[in-house]
Amino acid sequence: MKLLVCGGAGFIGSTFVRQRLLEHGDEVTVLDKLTYAGREENFHDFAEHPSFRFLRGAIEDPAAVSGAIDAAAPQAIVNFAAETHVDRSIAEPDAFVSTHALGTYVLLEAARAAALRYVQVSTDEVYGSIESGSFTEQSPLRPSSPYSATKTGADLLVQSYFHTYDLPAVIARGSNNYGPYQYPEKLIPLMILNALHGDALPVYGDGMQVRNWIHSTDFSRAIGHVLEHGVPGEVYNAGGPDEEANIDVVKRIIAATGASESQIEHVADRPGHDRRYSLSSDKVRALGWEPQVRFAEGLEQTVAWYRDNSWWWQPIRSGDYRAYYERQYGRTLA
Ligand code: NAD
Ligand code: DAU
Repeated sequence: MKLLVCGGAGFIGSTFVRQRLLEHGDEVTVLDKLTYAGREENFHDFAEHPSFRFLRGAIEDPAAVSGAIDAAAPQAIVNFAAETHVDRSIAEPDAFVSTHALGTYVLLEAARAAALRYVQVSTDEVYGSIESGSFTEQSPLRPSSPYSATKTGADLLVQSYFHTYDLPAVIARGSNNYGPYQYPEKLIPLMILNALHGDALPVYGDGMQVRNWIHSTDFSRAIGHVLEHGVPGEVYNAGGPDEEANIDVVKRIIAATGASESQIEHVADRPGHDRRYSLSSDKVRALGWEPQVRFAEGLEQTVAWYRDNSWWWQPIRSGDYRAYYERQYGRTLA
């Protein structure tokens, strides 16, 4: 296939691009604004691939989007482009509104004009928190944060383009991803790097919040299944095989890195913190997908990747991230 992948310089987008180029033989054009989270280093092993093209631009810029469609002549748009960190959405929601609402609108208009298939990459956070059981695609949408509320708005806009204009659009909602190339503001890479450096391990509240972990290669494959086999207008949940409380994730990381439990610090809780996420993935499993990586094994591999790839995180940890960390946690990194 020929694909236009928006937000393909980020953590999951670059994982998806790698799979489509190297495992499926697709032709891939990435359109990405390169925010703090978008990194050309994520293309390091396929940047010179003859079927790969990178264009820098924002999805809310109609000229950048139409230029990318002209260059790529794609059959489908897959949209990963987003502001993705809940804590940043609480501190500064502006970019979340413009990228998720306006950006998605611009992409949908372009897809409609060129009659393209459209895949929106979304999140389990649109359903809010669940105490027991798992969310299905029919569960009501009850987002809690500016991040999840604006992602929900984008999903509803996508569905409106299917209902109103017959745009062949599908939505893939993933649970918490982990794996290589994840920006270290997120729980797992933050804890791995802090553990390796002897820094404090800041656990929000009691640490008993539960997340449904999925390896980024598994979520990327699920998106590929939805792209190829999803029914237009439908939503597909893709959750990982394992759920775990944050404090237990941190303890696994301590064991894998040789850090000490004395590094754990319980800090103020996140405002509006969702207690538990859990997704039922029966619908995407019926398309032939199933997760391949169990959390215990995937986390060990992820710790090893961060230990072996300081070339990737060193420039982040010594750059703007330090100022973000000080603002968010009120303390400096080692
Ligand atoms: P990320 O923050 O690592 O990457 C986001 C990418 O989008 C970056 O490359 C960034 O430069 C780009 N981007 C941001 N705003 C843009 C804009 N206006 N125009 C063009 N590019 C822009 O994010 P991620 O974790 O890889 O998440 C990718 C997608 O998957 C997001 O839509 C997110 O909501 C969704 N998702 C993430 C998770 C998770 O656990 N990380 C789980 C489920 C769904
Ligand atoms: O569920 C899917 C979502 O998962 C995605 O849509 C988001 O883009 C992604 O960021 C992620 O959201 P979370 O808020 O769940 O992920 P985060 O890594 O920020 O936090 C995971 C849990 O760990 C959450 O309960 C908050 C907690 N936490 C996080 C950080 C950064 C801590 O206890 N301490 C921390 O320092």
